[in-house]
Amino acid sequence: MYGGNDLTTTVIVGGFFGDEGKGKVVSYLALKDNVKIAVRTGSVNAGHTVNWNGKTYKLRIIPSAFMNEDSRLLIGAGANINVNIFFKEIRETGTEKRVGIDEQASIIEEKHILEDRGNSYLSKTIGTTGQGVGPAIAERVRRKAKLARDIPELNPYLTDVAGEVNEAIEKGENVILEGTQGTFLSLYHGTYPYVTGRDTTAAAICSEVGVGPTKIDDVLIVFKSYVTRVGAGPLPGELSLEEAERRGWLEKATVTGRIRRAAPFNYELARKAIMINGATQIALTKIDIVFPECKGIKDYDKLSLNAKKFIEEIENKLKIPVTMIGTGPEAENIIDLRREKI
Ligand code: IMP
Ligand code: MG
Repeated sequence: MYGGNDLTTTVIVGGFFGDEGKGKVVSYLALKDNVKIAVRTGSVNAGHTVNWNGKTYKLRIIPSAFMNEDSRLLIGAGANINVNIFFKEIRETGTEKRVGIDEQASIIEEKHILEDRGNSYLSKTIGTTGQGVGPAIAERVRRKAKLARDIPELNPYLTDVAGEVNEAIEKGENVILEGTQGTFLSLYHGTYPYVTGRDTTAAAICSEVGVGPTKIDDVLIVFKSYVTRVGAGPLPGELSLEEAERRGWLEKATVTGRIRRAAPFNYELARKAIMINGATQIALTKIDIVFPECKGIKDYDKLSLNAKKFIEEIENKLKIPVTMIGTGPEAENIIDLRREKI
């Protein structure tokens, strides 16, 4: 179903190891569609980059749809809040009046951050982002975590996120559930133990927010035109640093500043990710990095022959449509094919 004027509930999920460009895709949808509610899941280990109006935002907790002033911005019950980062980002984005946190979201404390850094197993062996997210989740599993409702400063923002979201869905309004990281960093389906502390797949995104599977119209899976990974763990087809640099694929991580490891687009991983997430559409980002002649193009017909071949190969092999194609860093640098293909 097309999300533009028809009204849908869409889950945005990462197809590889995170950093596929979910922030950019969500920000485009926010500008283009009439998004009533956008919910961010996950936590501050994930940085979603949004380039909008000549500014770059590196969002770690506020939904990437913030630029639509009519959107209500929510943080789900399954999320983990770093209180300082929350206040910093509502200031940066000017969204104080539109933000809500589920009262059961849990809190990252200083001790969790310390446990995730230094010489710890998490830091040294797994190569975590050091944000305290895994230890905060462990605390929650031990039933000793502080929740958003226990923090007086958060009181003005508290809400029942599941209630708000399900009411909007009931009314037929547009809702976006923004996942974080990628399928292969999932605690359940990823490359364990080299994974993050939670399930990152579409079903888990719904569960964190409190939306049942029958309410979802579309699962939009985001693939970058090549694969990157930060931290330890397997990366099939990994290129040498020199080769990645030669191809212009070297990136720096949003949260930690580490160099991302890189590999070519991987059909086997993509197929599995589509299966696990029940994906219905693909957003393919950064095609302009693999095919520089495509930078900034907004019209599919104007893409180079090689770029079109790549997109057709993806559709032939993966059997679901590529409905959005990212051609540059700005929120609007997208070829939107939803009208034609859905
Ligand atoms: P943690 O999520 O900080 O516990 O880190 C566990 C693993 O997931 C490490 O390999 C991190 O580099 C990776 N990771 C966590 N969040 C992100 C993300 O947003 N993008 C890419 N990798 C991530
Ligand atoms: Mg990222």
